[in-house]
Amino acid sequence: MARIRETAHLAGATLAFARSSEDLERELGSAPDLVIVDLTASALDHARLFAALDGRTPRVPVLGFTTHTLARQTQPLHVHCTRVMTRETLTKELGSIMKGGRRMTADEFVSELDDRNQAVLARLSPDATLKPEVSGPLNVVNLLKVALKNEIEATEIAARWLVSTDDVSVKMALARQAGDEAKHYRMIADRLRELGFEAHGFDPIGKGYGPLFQYLDTLTTTVERVAAGQFTREAIAVVKNRQFIEFCERAGDRVTASLYRDVIEPDERFHHLLGRSLLLRFATTEDAQERARRAAARTLQLAEELQAAALKTAGIHHAPGC
Ligand SMILES: [Fe+2]
Ligand SMILES: [Fe+2]
Repeated sequence: MARIRETAHLAGATLAFARSSEDLERELGSAPDLVIVDLTASALDHARLFAALDGRTPRVPVLGFTTHTLARQTQPLHVHCTRVMTRETLTKELGSIMKGGRRMTADEFVSELDDRNQAVLARLSPDATLKPEVSGPLNVVNLLKVALKNEIEATEIAARWLVSTDDVSVKMALARQAGDEAKHYRMIADRLRELGFEAHGFDPIGKGYGPLFQYLDTLTTTVERVAAGQFTREAIAVVKNRQFIEFCERAGDRVTASLYRDVIEPDERFHHLLGRSLLLRFATTEDAQERARRAAARTLQLAEELQAAALKTAGIHHAPGC
């Protein structure tokens, strides 16, 4: 604490310590530039604390800090933070953070977001990825049925967004994606037929849309949509497809493996890159960057929740993504 005081003094920043939610609520009255939250402090009522922050407009930027060991445990709180870093990084950067720093360029922002996403994606370990929706045994046919659902949802969300944006280049990017996802759907349906399952007449969304689709459908700004739906969701797809390819190979299904390796996976990678180029155009203000961060974090959180549910129910999951 003495060190924080010293750093604040050197940076010319005014500092207040809030040891409880009540303290924080009082301090918010003085419109602080930044709130730093110890996400590992078990004595803090984080739910109440974030509710107090969420209740204010404009929302005060929140820097949450955690540790490598507790990162997974504190993960549900990350979505509430503008930035999350480890205690170590915070110690190193505290001086420049308190000086206010300069605004991040879109380029810096995109590489920071990429680093964050990759850190979470690294945890989607090869032998334990998501899959609560598989009904029946875990085999290529049943996983491809889940893939049909993912492809139709990806087609539809891109199509919905296409008609609700006025920006021509965004429209065209989404049109390209919708077309690709629809192509994936057809190729997977053809492959299922070869494997003896007639996809014609099968309705992959008969039981309704999944939680990720429902979340994406609530997003209204382009920066949130491309951060969540393309930049992050497609990065998840690349990881999951790699795992699915391995699964197919282990199951001796080289045809499905090469469909994914040669056609689908390169398309999903391209969709991620489309997201990156649109983010570079749209994530140029602090507000846009904050929205993008939160949308990406929520997308990853939903993916992790699905994985946790899958581990509990099915044990493992290798369902491909889009
Ligand atoms: Fe796809
Ligand atoms: Fe895709």
